[in-house]
Amino acid sequence: MQNIVILTGAGLSAESGLGTFRDKDGLWTKYDLNDVATPEGFARNPALVHEFYNARRANCLSASPNAAHDALARLQRAAPDRICLVTQNVDDLLERAGARDVVHMHGQLTRALCAGCGHGWDAPQVMAPTDPCPACARPATRPDVVWFGEYPYHMDRIDRTLMRADLFVAIGTSGNVYPAAGFVQQAAAAGAATLELNLDPSTTAGLFEGTRLGPASRIVPAWVDEVLAGNDGCQDR
Ligand code: OAD
Repeated sequence: MQNIVILTGAGLSAESGLGTFRDKDGLWTKYDLNDVATPEGFARNPALVHEFYNARRANCLSASPNAAHDALARLQRAAPDRICLVTQNVDDLLERAGARDVVHMHGQLTRALCAGCGHGWDAPQVMAPTDPCPACARPATRPDVVWFGEYPYHMDRIDRTLMRADLFVAIGTSGNVYPAAGFVQQAAAAGAATLELNLDPSTTAGLFEGTRLGPASRIVPAWVDEVLAGNDGCQDR
């Protein structure tokens, strides 16, 4: 099988009941991202930020993987060394579908981070600004998620993987947030074919060679079936 790098966004988990950000009724229509997704917002009002992520953690705990998560885990099981799953999502639905070694470039709801000393640990279900860090005891606990103005995780690994990709596929992401929105150009420059799977065309749709539109729970399993049947999986349908 070819080397495939798959970038996923909020659209992958939409049908599991987790809200997207920029769609009608998306999270950024209800909250100001400057308040809940920036280091400055956290410094101003840590209680509000914890409330936002506690609610998202609870939502995630009560959600289940959908057919698209299941299909990606199935694809990875068929060729673990060839499939790299990179996600902007902070949920753990890919892992709960059976995927392994998912590259969480925007962090994870299930992890906590000390804003004082950088220590990380498994997050409790409910976090509060007064929670002490288990390493340095400072009350500087924050969710281990990447905020605007912060550098995403695992970028060296992602860059290396994009360099040797034969196919780059973006699933359920609107193409508004960099560096993830630039991966399609990086992969194409390195010689990879590129395909977008999305409900609506993203802002970077014109940069992809192929586009398939529809809900992830339908179009992702269909695409995975094609790849597993030995088709190159990069054509429009
Ligand atoms: P967005 O909310 O910006 O985009 C969601 C995308 O999913 C859109 O292109 C929708 O068309 C698509 N979509 C919605 N429902 C779908 C479905 N059922 N099947 C397939 N696609 C569907 O979310 P992201 O692009 O993931 O970062 O957002 C990127 C980053 O912006 C997030 O990681 C988060 C956010 O601010 C931080 O918080 C740092």
